[in-house]
Amino acid sequence: MSHWRIGVLGAANIAYNRFLPALEQSERFVFAGIASRSTSQCAPFLERFGGRGYPDYQSLLQDPEIDCIYLPLPPALHMEWGLQVLCAGKHLLMEKPFTTAAEDTAILLKEAERRGLAIHENYMFLYHRQLQEIKQIMALGELGQIRMICAAFTFPHRGADDFRYNPELGGGALLDCGGYPLRIASELLGGTARLCWSHLRYDDAHKVDTFGSAVLQNDRGLTAHVFFGIDDTYRCQLEIWGSKASLTAPRFFTAPPELNPSIHMQTGGEIREIVVEQDNQFLNSITFFARLLDGSESRPTHNASISRQGILVQQIQDQNKQIKRKAPL
Ligand SMILES: NC(=O)c1ccc[n+]([C@@H]2O[C@H](COP(=O)([O-])OP(=O)(O)OC[C@H]3O[C@@H](n4cnc5c(N)ncnc54)[C@H](OP(=O)(O)O)[C@@H]3O)[C@@H](O)[C@H]2O)c1
Repeated sequence: MSHWRIGVLGAANIAYNRFLPALEQSERFVFAGIASRSTSQCAPFLERFGGRGYPDYQSLLQDPEIDCIYLPLPPALHMEWGLQVLCAGKHLLMEKPFTTAAEDTAILLKEAERRGLAIHENYMFLYHRQLQEIKQIMALGELGQIRMICAAFTFPHRGADDFRYNPELGGGALLDCGGYPLRIASELLGGTARLCWSHLRYDDAHKVDTFGSAVLQNDRGLTAHVFFGIDDTYRCQLEIWGSKASLTAPRFFTAPPELNPSIHMQTGGEIREIVVEQDNQFLNSITFFARLLDGSESRPTHNASISRQGILVQQIQDQNKQIKRKAPL
């Protein structure tokens, strides 16, 4: 079995708290090192995870010993640095959202394809066994005919310095947490899912959208309603309503490895709890990337899903640009 040497571009919180602890459990990757704009930021990473510190991003990209890069920069920097990763001949594990514009996503996907490189967008919940269990419940007809899908990811304000409230860094609710409910809506509605309506809420205190919602529909008329927010009460939930029963998964997007997520099945007044086995969705996402690298997962299929997600987000951005322009009238 081949081992891939992976480097981290930027001393991000997610890299320290989630990515590297999961990577330590992977049999497919070796952590080679981390690059930061400031060398002192590398120290805690090297102390805890080993590897080598690089004084700037370019020196990591120029290291011929590195096969692939994990890129957890703020979203507005994904396009520029993603392109540099690919031009350096490295495979790319990109944090979500892939980029901030569908045309940038298309450029990166084309470049990766041209160079024969693998690309992955890290929506980890797709790789938690919880989703497989929910799909099985639906396939077995336990919910009856599916009437509606409802998904929400909202969380409290994280502080003004966080990139999520900075438009120059690609902040905003749609880009940060909107991608999660949109991604599961597309997954469950299937290939014919299309955007029907959307709204992004801006307020005077922020320069970015802080809340949003959207409705998607497939060619069978099934709708999904999605909600996302970065200045709200915490909600991280998938609901599916059927003609016989409904299902709620209250910790759907961010189940940590030590949690047994619950699925609540409600039939009439009766609620039954299904306790799902623990699973490490970050490790599973990393393993999926390894399968893209060794060719046991289809790169074109995966790239097409990244592209579809980018187009959906872009459509919401475009719809709401027009609405914003009309607002003063
Ligand atoms: N998949 C998930 O569940 C999940 C969860 C959380 C976050 N994320 C994603 O991961 C990425 C990073 O999120 P995070 O919360 O870990 O962010 P963060 O802690 O703020 O880290 C971002 C890093 O980017 C680098 N950077 C380069 N230019 C910067 C600039 N102008 N301003 C600020 N930082 C800059 C910094 O590293 P240096 O100073 O070392 O260069 C910084 O540590 C985002 O794309 C986010 O959406 C994904």
